[in-house]
Amino acid sequence: MRKIDIFDTTLRDGEQSAGINLNTVEKLEIARQLEKLGVAVIEAGFPASSPGDFEAVQRIANTVKNSTVTGLARAMKNDIDISWEALRGGEQPHIHVFLATSPIHMEYKLKKTPDEVVNIAVDAVKYAKQYFPLVQWSAEDAFRSEPEYLVRIINQVIAAGATTINIPDTVGYATPQEYGALFKYLKENVTGVEKVKLSAHCHDDLGMAVANSIAAVENGADQVECTINGIGERAGNASLEEIAVALHIRKDFYNMDTSINLQEIKRSSQLVSRLTGVMIQPNKAVVGKNAFAHESGIHQDGMLKNRQTYEIITPELIGESDMPLALGKHSGRHAFKDRAVRMGFDLTEKQLNEAFIDFKKLADRKKEITEDDLFVLFTGQQLQD
Ligand code: KIV
Ligand code: ZN
Repeated sequence: MRKIDIFDTTLRDGEQSAGINLNTVEKLEIARQLEKLGVAVIEAGFPASSPGDFEAVQRIANTVKNSTVTGLARAMKNDIDISWEALRGGEQPHIHVFLATSPIHMEYKLKKTPDEVVNIAVDAVKYAKQYFPLVQWSAEDAFRSEPEYLVRIINQVIAAGATTINIPDTVGYATPQEYGALFKYLKENVTGVEKVKLSAHCHDDLGMAVANSIAAVENGADQVECTINGIGERAGNASLEEIAVALHIRKDFYNMDTSINLQEIKRSSQLVSRLTGVMIQPNKAVVGKNAFAHESGIHQDGMLKNRQTYEIITPELIGESDMPLALGKHSGRHAFKDRAVRMGFDLTEKQLNEAFIDFKKLADRKKEITEDDLFVLFTGQQLQD
């Protein structure tokens, strides 16, 4: 099976969504969950963008051991210096440097000629390479760039030491056929392409981010960039859970392995939704509340006879049990702890004991304890330490 690396950017591109603002503790909690989920790379933030982002990236880089931790940087020495300070404690220091390559971005945003952009990109990669063994370079708005120009600049950044080349569809404009064809073209025309990882990064403006990402891996991409629940700028990024489950369920067709621990998908999705405050639409593929709900009589009848009549993914596959146990005044500590874990809380024994005492007091007054009540109880304990 071909190995596909999952590069998670929930904490960077995901956090760029309107209305999302995570603090360091929340980011660390999500990063730990992403490590359990088995992502290859965690993009923890944009260290030069604010002191808060710097602190979060540094703490994540110093904590996470089983995923590579990276941070975003503009193609500028100062951004790269700051990123090194934030990321140097990581197991495998990795930086993600980006620069736009489309005619519209070069002319209006950067106000640079194509030749100047090549020089800036090469200088930035060489500079980053002095510190970082792993340097990812992104051609922002790659999909709307001239393919011949992309080949030219990529050849040069590879010669300068880049280890991963990312080809974003920054504005979500591509169709699967076109985006796949671009990867095929780059595979055939870039010098030294076999020495680097090629990466796909798709936005969902036309609802095609997941299909585009899959078209990219079918045409030679080694890495896919995505976010939990598909959160991200504007209409969002490609959704991690949809890509991982699609490649798994159709593995006979694709013959690719992402190494994602599918059992952690539901937990990751709930944690990100809770901490960002972004609700998951009920009909969202894989993690939506209705993703496994069968309403019509014909479907229910089929399901009772053989689940496979209408179910291609089981809730168990993504770590969601059919029915979580209802919690009330007769519930025991075991079910209570189980619910905390299921909701994505990582509480110490002391915090659990305290929360359990408060839960029993509440259950004496209230017949039904809702998920919101539990959030308040668990979060209260977490904030006390
Ligand atoms: O969408 C995009 O182009 C990006 C880059 C910074 C990689 O997020
Ligand atoms: Zn993006």
